[in-house]
Amino acid sequence: MRTTLATLQRIVDNNEKFTVLTCYDAIFAGILENAGVDVLLVGDSLGNVLHGENTTLAVTLDDMIYHTRCVARGASKAFIIADMPFGSYQVSPEQAFENAVRIIAAGAHMVKIEGGHIMADTVEFMTRRGIPVCAHIGLTPQSVHQLGGYKLQGNSEKSAKQLLDDAKKLEKAGASLLVMEVVPAKLAKKITHALTIPTIGIGAGVDCSAQVLVLHDMLGLYPGKKPRFVKDFMAGANSIQEAVASYVAAVKTGQFPGQEHEF
Ligand code: KIV
Repeated sequence: MRTTLATLQRIVDNNEKFTVLTCYDAIFAGILENAGVDVLLVGDSLGNVLHGENTTLAVTLDDMIYHTRCVARGASKAFIIADMPFGSYQVSPEQAFENAVRIIAAGAHMVKIEGGHIMADTVEFMTRRGIPVCAHIGLTPQSVHQLGGYKLQGNSEKSAKQLLDDAKKLEKAGASLLVMEVVPAKLAKKITHALTIPTIGIGAGVDCSAQVLVLHDMLGLYPGKKPRFVKDFMAGANSIQEAVASYVAAVKTGQFPGQEHEF
């Protein structure tokens, strides 16, 4: 049976956690959902892990449509979220809607956009017209140049207040899920408790409703220095299936992320 937003909400209402991993192709879509991953995120992180770029900024709408179609063909159970790439939704709500339609037509069940209260009108425009939206705040990689690098967000009183306000405005505008990336665990907990929609953390501590990691990071494939919030689940596993199943179990039992992974 297909996982839906209602399924995810039910998991959270039962005080359980759901699991998310990024996914970019059909074979992995099958492996991940059979290992128990609830949500596949066709992330624009494919710019980094598939294209070898340093940022996600060069990813195009056509790239996202192509990979969403691949994932959708390989998945029969998981809920599929796809990122809207840089420049495809910031101009106007109408631009966002038109481009989101193409991503949904490729097989995504929901689109994800980065940004705080400034995106509230866009979230409202899309959700009122039938496109579910996942909002994404904190470290928003498409704003890397404005943020001055990939660094912790919400670590001053003012920026923490801003993120809480952003989260409430995005929920009010109609977002059904909220990703929080690289924010202090205490702040993520506060935001999670302040909302009724589920939150998905990456570098945001254990108290979010769900966790997400980039697939290549959690399989230990991505070269270079591992960010603090990443755990290599392939270490000690005999197969990719086993590594993914152990990620699912660790998230569901609250063993991942540990304190060593949070800020
Ligand atoms: O693109 C991506 O993989 C993401 C996750 C890191 C949340 O947005």
